[in-house]
Amino acid sequence: MAPVKNGRLLFNEIPEGFPEPGKTTVYDESETIDLDNVPLKGGFLVKTLVLSNDPYLRFNMRDPKVESYSEAFHIGKPIVNFGVGLVLRSESKEVKKGDHVYGLFPFSEYFVQEKFDGFRVLENKEGLPWSVYVGVAGMPGQTAFLAWKEFAQAKKGETAFVTAASGPVGSFVCQLAKADGLKVIASAGTDEKCDFVKSLGVDVVFNYKKTKTADVLAKEGPVDVYWDNVAGESLDAALENAAKHARFLECGAITGYNGEGAPVKNMVNVFAKEIHLYGFLVFTLLEDHADEFYAEVPARIAKGEFKYIEDIKKGLKWAGHAIYEVQAGKNHGKSIIEVATE
Ligand SMILES: NC(=O)c1ccc[n+]([C@@H]2O[C@H](COP(=O)([O-])OP(=O)(O)OC[C@H]3O[C@@H](n4cnc5c(N)ncnc54)[C@H](OP(=O)(O)O)[C@@H]3O)[C@@H](O)[C@H]2O)c1
Repeated sequence: MAPVKNGRLLFNEIPEGFPEPGKTTVYDESETIDLDNVPLKGGFLVKTLVLSNDPYLRFNMRDPKVESYSEAFHIGKPIVNFGVGLVLRSESKEVKKGDHVYGLFPFSEYFVQEKFDGFRVLENKEGLPWSVYVGVAGMPGQTAFLAWKEFAQAKKGETAFVTAASGPVGSFVCQLAKADGLKVIASAGTDEKCDFVKSLGVDVVFNYKKTKTADVLAKEGPVDVYWDNVAGESLDAALENAAKHARFLECGAITGYNGEGAPVKNMVNVFAKEIHLYGFLVFTLLEDHADEFYAEVPARIAKGEFKYIEDIKKGLKWAGHAIYEVQAGKNHGKSIIEVATE
Protein backbone atom coordinates (compact mmCIF):
# COMPACT_ATOMS: atom_id res chain seq x y z
CA MET A 1 0.00 0.00 0.00
CA ALA A 2 1.25 3.50 -0.78
CA PRO A 3 2.06 5.78 2.16
CA VAL A 4 -0.99 7.48 3.67
CA LYS A 5 -1.52 10.90 5.25
CA ASN A 6 -0.72 11.02 8.97
CA GLY A 7 -2.56 14.03 10.44
CA ARG A 8 -1.15 15.41 13.70
CA LEU A 9 -2.03 18.12 16.21
CA LEU A 10 1.21 19.95 16.97
CA PHE A 11 2.07 22.15 19.93
CA ASN A 12 3.00 25.46 18.34
CA GLU A 13 3.30 28.14 21.01
CA ILE A 14 3.10 28.54 24.81
CA PRO A 15 -0.21 30.33 25.47
CA GLU A 16 -0.52 33.35 27.75
CA GLY A 17 -4.16 32.70 28.64
CA PHE A 18 -6.53 30.25 26.96
CA PRO A 19 -5.02 27.89 24.34
CA GLU A 20 -6.10 29.08 20.91
CA PRO A 21 -6.69 26.62 18.04
CA GLY A 22 -4.49 27.55 15.06
CA LYS A 23 -2.07 29.43 17.34
CA THR A 24 -1.28 27.39 20.46
CA THR A 25 -1.92 24.19 18.53
CA VAL A 26 -1.80 23.62 14.78
CA TYR A 27 -3.29 20.77 12.78
CA ASP A 28 -0.71 19.44 10.31
CA GLU A 29 -1.14 17.08 7.36
CA SER A 30 2.34 17.29 5.87
CA GLU A 31 3.49 13.88 7.14
CA THR A 32 2.83 10.53 5.49
CA ILE A 33 3.38 7.03 6.85
CA ASP A 34 3.97 3.72 5.11
CA LEU A 35 1.81 1.41 7.19
CA ASP A 36 3.26 -1.79 5.69
CA ASN A 37 6.92 -0.91 5.98
CA VAL A 38 7.46 1.67 8.73
CA PRO A 39 10.15 0.16 11.03
CA LEU A 40 8.71 -0.99 14.38
CA LYS A 41 12.05 -1.35 16.24
CA GLY A 42 10.59 -4.08 18.46
CA GLY A 43 7.43 -2.08 19.12
CA PHE A 44 4.00 -1.84 17.51
CA LEU A 45 2.09 0.31 15.01
CA VAL A 46 -1.11 1.91 16.30
CA LYS A 47 -4.08 3.38 14.48
CA THR A 48 -5.58 5.99 16.83
CA LEU A 49 -9.32 5.61 17.42
CA VAL A 50 -10.14 8.02 20.27
CA LEU A 51 -8.20 10.62 22.24
CA SER A 52 -8.99 12.13 25.61
CA ASN A 53 -9.04 15.89 26.14
CA ASP A 54 -8.43 16.74 29.79
CA PRO A 55 -8.00 19.99 31.73
CA TYR A 56 -4.42 19.11 32.77
CA LEU A 57 -3.21 19.47 29.17
CA ARG A 58 -2.98 23.20 29.92
CA PHE A 59 -0.20 22.47 32.46
CA ASN A 60 1.83 20.76 29.79
CA MET A 61 1.71 23.87 27.58
CA ARG A 62 4.58 25.44 29.50
CA ASP A 63 8.29 26.07 29.25
CA PRO A 64 9.86 22.57 29.56
CA LYS A 65 12.36 24.04 32.05
CA VAL A 66 9.49 24.43 34.54
CA GLU A 67 9.12 21.11 36.39
CA SER A 68 5.69 19.67 37.10
CA TYR A 69 4.07 16.29 37.64
CA SER A 70 3.59 15.65 33.91
CA GLU A 71 5.94 16.23 30.99
CA ALA A 72 5.78 19.56 29.15
CA PHE A 73 4.84 19.52 25.46
CA HIS A 74 7.57 20.31 22.96
CA ILE A 75 7.09 23.00 20.33
CA GLY A 76 6.67 21.41 16.88
CA LYS A 77 5.81 17.99 18.35
CA PRO A 78 2.34 16.45 18.80
CA ILE A 79 0.21 17.07 21.88
CA VAL A 80 0.21 13.92 24.05
CA ASN A 81 -2.63 12.45 26.10
CA PHE A 82 -4.54 9.25 26.78
CA GLY A 83 -6.04 7.38 23.86
CA VAL A 84 -7.31 4.05 22.61
CA GLY A 85 -6.05 2.57 19.36
CA LEU A 86 -5.97 -0.53 17.22
CA VAL A 87 -2.69 -2.40 16.76
CA LEU A 88 -2.01 -2.81 13.01
CA ARG A 89 1.37 -4.56 13.24
CA SER A 90 3.54 -5.70 16.13
CA GLU A 91 7.03 -6.95 16.91
CA SER A 92 6.37 -6.67 20.66
CA LYS A 93 5.76 -9.73 22.80
CA GLU A 94 3.17 -7.81 24.86
CA VAL A 95 0.74 -6.95 22.03
CA LYS A 96 -0.46 -8.50 18.83
CA LYS A 97 -2.15 -7.28 15.66
CA GLY A 98 -5.85 -6.62 16.34
CA ASP A 99 -5.38 -5.76 20.05
CA HIS A 100 -6.80 -2.50 21.41
CA VAL A 101 -4.34 -0.56 23.53
CA TYR A 102 -4.71 2.29 26.02
CA GLY A 103 -1.89 4.63 26.99
CA LEU A 104 -0.35 8.02 26.36
CA PHE A 105 -0.71 8.70 22.63
CA PRO A 106 0.80 11.42 20.45
CA PHE A 107 -2.10 13.29 18.79
CA SER A 108 -1.53 11.63 15.40
CA GLU A 109 -3.59 9.31 13.23
CA TYR A 110 -0.90 6.61 13.34
CA PHE A 111 2.24 6.11 15.41
CA VAL A 112 4.88 3.54 16.26
CA GLN A 113 5.17 2.80 19.98
CA GLU A 114 8.53 1.28 20.80
CA LYS A 115 8.01 0.63 24.54
CA PHE A 116 5.01 -1.11 26.06
CA ASP A 117 5.60 0.49 29.51
CA GLY A 118 2.57 2.54 30.57
CA PHE A 119 0.36 0.87 27.93
CA ARG A 120 -2.40 -1.62 28.58
CA VAL A 121 -4.21 -4.09 26.31
CA LEU A 122 -7.95 -3.54 26.83
CA GLU A 123 -9.97 -6.71 27.01
CA ASN A 124 -13.36 -4.98 26.87
CA LYS A 125 -15.32 -8.17 27.50
CA GLU A 126 -18.37 -5.92 27.96
CA GLY A 127 -18.16 -4.49 24.42
CA LEU A 128 -18.28 -0.87 25.64
CA PRO A 129 -17.62 1.87 23.07
CA TRP A 130 -13.87 2.62 23.02
CA SER A 131 -14.58 6.24 23.99
CA VAL A 132 -15.66 5.02 27.44
CA TYR A 133 -12.07 3.88 28.08
CA VAL A 134 -10.81 7.47 28.01
CA GLY A 135 -13.74 8.75 30.11
CA VAL A 136 -15.58 7.05 32.90
CA ALA A 137 -13.43 3.88 32.47
CA GLY A 138 -10.29 5.94 31.77
CA MET A 139 -8.18 8.50 33.61
CA PRO A 140 -11.08 10.76 34.81
CA GLY A 141 -13.12 7.78 36.03
CA GLN A 142 -10.05 6.37 37.78
CA THR A 143 -9.55 9.70 39.53
CA ALA A 144 -13.12 9.80 40.84
CA PHE A 145 -13.40 6.14 41.78
CA LEU A 146 -10.00 5.64 43.42
CA ALA A 147 -9.72 8.97 45.25
CA TRP A 148 -13.29 8.81 46.62
CA LYS A 149 -12.55 5.37 48.02
CA GLU A 150 -9.19 6.44 49.43
CA PHE A 151 -9.95 9.82 51.00
CA ALA A 152 -13.68 10.64 51.37
CA GLN A 153 -14.30 8.53 54.51
CA ALA A 154 -17.96 8.94 53.61
CA LYS A 155 -20.62 8.14 56.18
CA LYS A 156 -24.30 7.68 55.44
CA GLY A 157 -26.27 10.85 56.21
CA GLU A 158 -23.31 13.21 55.68
CA THR A 159 -23.36 16.02 53.13
CA ALA A 160 -21.05 16.22 50.11
CA PHE A 161 -20.47 19.16 47.77
CA VAL A 162 -19.13 18.58 44.23
CA THR A 163 -18.02 21.26 41.73
CA ALA A 164 -17.75 20.93 37.91
CA ALA A 165 -20.36 18.28 38.57
CA SER A 166 -21.37 17.52 34.98
CA GLY A 167 -17.84 16.60 33.86
CA PRO A 168 -16.44 13.06 33.84
CA VAL A 169 -14.82 13.39 37.27
CA GLY A 170 -17.60 15.36 39.00
CA SER A 171 -20.52 13.34 37.65
CA PHE A 172 -18.88 10.07 38.71
CA VAL A 173 -18.20 11.46 42.20
CA CYS A 174 -21.85 12.56 42.55
CA GLN A 175 -22.96 8.99 41.83
CA LEU A 176 -20.44 7.47 44.27
CA ALA A 177 -21.55 9.88 47.00
CA LYS A 178 -25.24 9.07 46.42
CA ALA A 179 -24.46 5.33 46.47
CA ASP A 180 -22.79 5.83 49.88
CA GLY A 181 -25.97 7.45 51.24
CA LEU A 182 -24.86 11.08 51.37
CA LYS A 183 -26.89 14.17 50.69
CA VAL A 184 -25.21 15.65 47.60
CA ILE A 185 -25.02 19.33 46.63
CA ALA A 186 -23.52 19.97 43.20
CA SER A 187 -22.76 22.95 40.97
CA ALA A 188 -22.28 23.36 37.24
CA GLY A 189 -21.96 26.30 34.85
CA THR A 190 -25.06 26.01 32.63
CA ASP A 191 -28.70 25.01 33.14
CA GLU A 192 -28.22 22.20 30.61
CA LYS A 193 -25.32 20.80 32.64
CA CYS A 194 -27.44 21.13 35.81
CA ASP A 195 -30.24 19.09 34.20
CA PHE A 196 -27.81 16.22 33.59
CA VAL A 197 -26.54 16.39 37.19
CA LYS A 198 -30.15 16.32 38.48
CA SER A 199 -30.76 13.20 36.41
CA LEU A 200 -28.07 11.46 38.51
CA GLY A 201 -30.26 11.75 41.61
CA VAL A 202 -28.28 14.62 43.16
CA ASP A 203 -30.27 16.34 45.92
CA VAL A 204 -29.40 20.01 45.35
CA VAL A 205 -28.11 21.22 41.97
CA PHE A 206 -27.39 24.85 41.11
CA ASN A 207 -25.86 26.96 38.35
CA TYR A 208 -23.03 28.78 40.16
CA LYS A 209 -23.12 31.55 37.53
CA LYS A 210 -26.68 32.43 38.57
CA THR A 211 -26.75 31.52 42.28
CA LYS A 212 -24.07 32.30 44.85
CA THR A 213 -22.34 29.12 46.04
CA ALA A 214 -21.89 30.50 49.59
CA ASP A 215 -25.68 31.11 49.88
CA VAL A 216 -26.53 27.55 48.78
CA LEU A 217 -24.01 25.99 51.16
CA ALA A 218 -25.17 28.18 54.07
CA LYS A 219 -28.71 26.87 53.52
CA GLU A 220 -27.96 23.24 52.57
CA GLY A 221 -24.67 22.55 54.44
CA PRO A 222 -22.57 22.21 56.44
CA VAL A 223 -20.32 20.25 54.11
CA ASP A 224 -18.64 17.07 55.40
CA VAL A 225 -16.94 16.11 52.12
CA TYR A 226 -15.97 18.65 49.47
CA TRP A 227 -14.78 17.36 46.09
CA ASP A 228 -12.92 20.33 44.67
CA ASN A 229 -12.45 20.46 40.90
CA VAL A 230 -12.17 24.22 40.60
CA ALA A 231 -10.73 26.05 43.70
CA GLY A 232 -11.39 29.84 43.63
CA GLU A 233 -14.68 31.17 44.98
CA SER A 234 -16.23 27.70 45.35
CA LEU A 235 -13.39 26.54 47.59
CA ASP A 236 -13.73 29.65 49.72
CA ALA A 237 -17.47 29.05 50.07
CA ALA A 238 -16.86 25.40 51.01
CA LEU A 239 -14.27 26.39 53.65
CA GLU A 240 -16.70 28.89 55.13
CA ASN A 241 -19.49 26.29 55.26
CA ALA A 242 -17.47 23.21 56.20
CA ALA A 243 -18.44 20.94 59.08
CA LYS A 244 -15.94 20.20 61.82
CA HIS A 245 -13.47 17.49 60.63
CA ALA A 246 -14.61 17.87 57.01
CA ARG A 247 -12.57 16.16 54.30
CA PHE A 248 -11.61 18.26 51.26
CA LEU A 249 -10.55 16.21 48.23
CA GLU A 250 -8.36 18.63 46.29
CA CYS A 251 -8.65 17.19 42.80
CA GLY A 252 -8.27 20.24 40.58
CA ALA A 253 -8.21 24.04 40.44
CA ILE A 254 -9.42 24.89 36.94
CA THR A 255 -10.35 28.48 37.82
CA GLY A 256 -6.59 29.12 37.95
CA TYR A 257 -5.30 27.13 34.96
CA ASN A 258 -5.55 29.90 32.35
CA GLY A 259 -4.90 32.98 34.45
CA GLU A 260 -3.35 34.06 37.68
CA GLY A 261 -3.84 31.02 39.88
CA ALA A 262 -6.70 30.49 42.33
CA PRO A 263 -6.21 32.56 45.50
CA VAL A 264 -7.92 31.31 48.67
CA LYS A 265 -9.17 33.69 51.36
CA ASN A 266 -10.77 31.45 53.96
CA MET A 267 -7.82 29.25 54.96
CA VAL A 268 -8.37 30.05 58.64
CA ASN A 269 -11.22 27.51 58.60
CA VAL A 270 -8.74 24.69 57.94
CA PHE A 271 -7.40 24.75 61.48
CA ALA A 272 -10.48 26.30 63.12
CA LYS A 273 -12.66 23.41 61.91
CA GLU A 274 -9.85 20.83 61.79
CA ILE A 275 -10.45 20.21 58.11
CA HIS A 276 -8.37 17.55 56.36
CA LEU A 277 -7.13 18.55 52.90
CA TYR A 278 -6.22 15.64 50.61
CA GLY A 279 -4.25 16.51 47.49
CA PHE A 280 -3.75 13.57 45.12
CA LEU A 281 -2.72 12.53 41.64
CA VAL A 282 -4.49 9.71 39.86
CA PHE A 283 -1.17 8.43 38.55
CA THR A 284 -0.05 7.61 42.12
CA LEU A 285 -3.38 5.98 43.03
CA LEU A 286 -3.14 3.81 39.90
CA GLU A 287 0.20 2.36 40.93
CA ASP A 288 -1.56 0.00 43.36
CA HIS A 289 -5.16 0.00 42.13
CA ALA A 290 -5.24 -0.19 38.32
CA ASP A 291 -6.14 -3.88 38.09
CA GLU A 292 -8.87 -3.52 40.71
CA PHE A 293 -10.35 -0.60 38.74
CA TYR A 294 -10.43 -2.49 35.41
CA ALA A 295 -11.85 -5.60 37.11
CA GLU A 296 -14.76 -3.68 38.63
CA VAL A 297 -15.67 -0.47 36.83
CA PRO A 298 -16.21 -1.42 33.14
CA ALA A 299 -18.54 -4.24 34.21
CA ARG A 300 -20.56 -1.85 36.40
CA ILE A 301 -20.75 0.69 33.55
CA ALA A 302 -22.03 -2.05 31.24
CA LYS A 303 -24.74 -2.87 33.80
CA GLY A 304 -25.83 0.79 33.70
CA GLU A 305 -24.75 1.52 37.29
CA PHE A 306 -22.80 4.65 36.31
CA LYS A 307 -24.22 7.24 33.92
CA TYR A 308 -22.05 9.50 31.79
CA ILE A 309 -22.28 11.94 28.90
CA GLU A 310 -19.74 12.50 26.16
CA ASP A 311 -18.90 15.53 24.05
CA ILE A 312 -17.34 13.98 20.94
CA LYS A 313 -15.55 15.90 18.18
CA LYS A 314 -15.14 13.86 15.01
CA GLY A 315 -11.76 14.33 13.33
CA LEU A 316 -8.32 15.15 14.73
CA LYS A 317 -8.43 18.55 13.03
CA TRP A 318 -10.96 19.65 15.68
CA ALA A 319 -8.78 18.69 18.65
CA GLY A 320 -7.41 22.22 19.12
CA HIS A 321 -11.00 23.55 19.34
CA ALA A 322 -11.89 20.85 21.85
CA ILE A 323 -8.87 21.75 24.00
CA TYR A 324 -9.99 25.39 24.12
CA GLU A 325 -13.57 24.39 24.98
CA VAL A 326 -12.63 22.35 28.05
CA GLN A 327 -10.47 25.17 29.40
CA ALA A 328 -13.32 27.64 28.87
CA GLY A 329 -16.01 25.36 30.35
CA LYS A 330 -17.81 25.02 27.01
CA ASN A 331 -17.75 21.21 26.90
CA HIS A 332 -20.90 19.32 27.83
CA GLY A 333 -19.71 15.95 29.16
CA LYS A 334 -16.43 14.14 28.75
CA SER A 335 -14.49 15.77 25.90
CA ILE A 336 -13.28 13.18 23.40
CA ILE A 337 -11.78 13.35 19.92
CA GLU A 338 -12.84 10.53 17.64
CA VAL A 339 -9.93 10.22 15.24
CA ALA A 340 -11.07 7.14 13.31
CA THR A 341 -13.46 4.24 13.41
CA GLU A 342 -12.20 0.70 12.88
N1 LIG B 1 -5.80 15.18 40.62
C1 LIG B 1 -5.88 14.41 39.55
O1 LIG B 1 -5.18 13.40 39.41
C2 LIG B 1 -6.88 14.76 38.48
C3 LIG B 1 -7.19 13.86 37.47
C4 LIG B 1 -8.18 14.20 36.53
C5 LIG B 1 -8.78 15.45 36.60
N2 LIG B 1 -8.40 16.32 37.57
C6 LIG B 1 -9.06 17.64 37.68
O2 LIG B 1 -10.44 17.40 37.88
C7 LIG B 1 -11.18 18.53 37.41
C8 LIG B 1 -12.33 18.04 36.54
O3 LIG B 1 -11.82 17.36 35.43
P1 LIG B 1 -12.82 16.84 34.28
O4 LIG B 1 -12.01 16.05 33.33
O5 LIG B 1 -14.02 16.23 34.90
O6 LIG B 1 -13.19 18.23 33.58
P2 LIG B 1 -14.53 18.73 32.87
O7 LIG B 1 -15.58 18.87 33.90
O8 LIG B 1 -14.83 17.94 31.67
O9 LIG B 1 -14.11 20.17 32.34
C9 LIG B 1 -13.73 21.18 33.15
C10 LIG B 1 -14.94 21.94 33.69
O10 LIG B 1 -14.52 22.82 34.72
C11 LIG B 1 -15.54 23.78 34.90
N3 LIG B 1 -15.05 25.10 35.33
C12 LIG B 1 -15.24 25.63 36.55
N4 LIG B 1 -14.69 26.82 36.65
C13 LIG B 1 -14.15 27.09 35.47
C14 LIG B 1 -13.43 28.21 34.97
N5 LIG B 1 -13.15 29.30 35.68
N6 LIG B 1 -13.03 28.13 33.71
C15 LIG B 1 -13.30 27.06 32.96
N7 LIG B 1 -13.97 25.98 33.39
C16 LIG B 1 -14.38 26.00 34.65
C17 LIG B 1 -16.33 23.83 33.59
O11 LIG B 1 -17.63 23.33 33.91
P3 LIG B 1 -18.77 24.32 34.44
O12 LIG B 1 -19.38 24.90 33.21
O13 LIG B 1 -19.66 23.42 35.20
O14 LIG B 1 -18.10 25.36 35.26
C18 LIG B 1 -15.60 22.88 32.67
O15 LIG B 1 -16.47 22.22 31.79
C19 LIG B 1 -10.18 19.42 36.70
O16 LIG B 1 -9.79 20.46 37.56
C20 LIG B 1 -9.00 18.50 36.44
O17 LIG B 1 -7.77 19.20 36.33
C21 LIG B 1 -7.47 16.00 38.49
